[in-house]
Amino acid sequence: MAEPAPNCGPESSPTHAPYALATGSAAVRRLHALHGVYSPFARGVLADAGLKAGMKVADFGCGVGMTTRMLAEIVGPSGSVTGVDFSAEQVEEAREISARADIGNVSFLQANACDTGLPRASFDLAYCRFLLLHLPNPAACIEEMLAILKPGGILVLEDGDLTTAMSQPPTALDAFADLFGRLGPTRGLDYSMAKDLHRLVEAAGISGARVVYHQPACITDEHRQFLKWSVEEAGSAFVGASLITEEQLATTLLEMQQAVDTPDVTILAPRMYLVSCVKG
Ligand SMILES: C[S@@+](CC[C@H](N)C(=O)[O-])C[C@H]1O[C@@H](n2cnc3c(N)ncnc32)[C@H](O)[C@@H]1O
Repeated sequence: MAEPAPNCGPESSPTHAPYALATGSAAVRRLHALHGVYSPFARGVLADAGLKAGMKVADFGCGVGMTTRMLAEIVGPSGSVTGVDFSAEQVEEAREISARADIGNVSFLQANACDTGLPRASFDLAYCRFLLLHLPNPAACIEEMLAILKPGGILVLEDGDLTTAMSQPPTALDAFADLFGRLGPTRGLDYSMAKDLHRLVEAAGISGARVVYHQPACITDEHRQFLKWSVEEAGSAFVGASLITEEQLATTLLEMQQAVDTPDVTILAPRMYLVSCVKG
């Protein structure tokens, strides 16, 4: 098992690293944009994998519950979804948004995704999006996801390679890939681990996994902000790791916004990998 990197702070453990992005209400706008960019494709993959009404589902690393509520809509009132997140702020925000929307078939749990305490062999489907790349030991999380699935249960893993985000022509938006690519090793993380996701599933003893990837363009005004908002949120982590100075960060954010506001600039979100399989 990997040792936590020395600069990960008191929150670090072999299965958890401090999260570089915002949590709670401050995370909502970025996660809403992220959901808009990636969820249309994911819905198709989840349907192909076998997600349907009446299922009992677990959403690992649920954030403010964007994915949890999407899954709840699909499983309907006869099904249920449990969202799990390490952050108390994310869980509180997820509960508040879901209560405001009067969604009754979701519940949220504050726990480490690698050791949730959820009942063993009791879920029909386990899912995560943009979680595994934040973990120093993603294999431990996959093991936990498999443990809570019934035999024949479905596992769907969705993670992006942050180093593949880009703009065309090249602009300051390319700082996203550069900064996250360099931040990972300072925290014992690999923000491009998604490209090897299927190997982690094979290593967990699962064969016949289906692997697809896609790289969506950010078209709407909100979606075009996704890369810039992410760099803004993780700014203190980049500065803290001496990857950029405060002054350089401020200039980079201004230049990123100029690129966002230039319609001729094509913005590609990180390439997303989706792996689906069945527990034997
Ligand atoms: C990028 S967000 C993704 C949220 C959600 N899956 C989505 O796509 O909207 C990653 C989430 O993983 C959570 N996280 C990070 N490490 C975790 C851990 N060890 N256990 C559970 N959640 C964790 C963070 O708190 C954060 O909410």
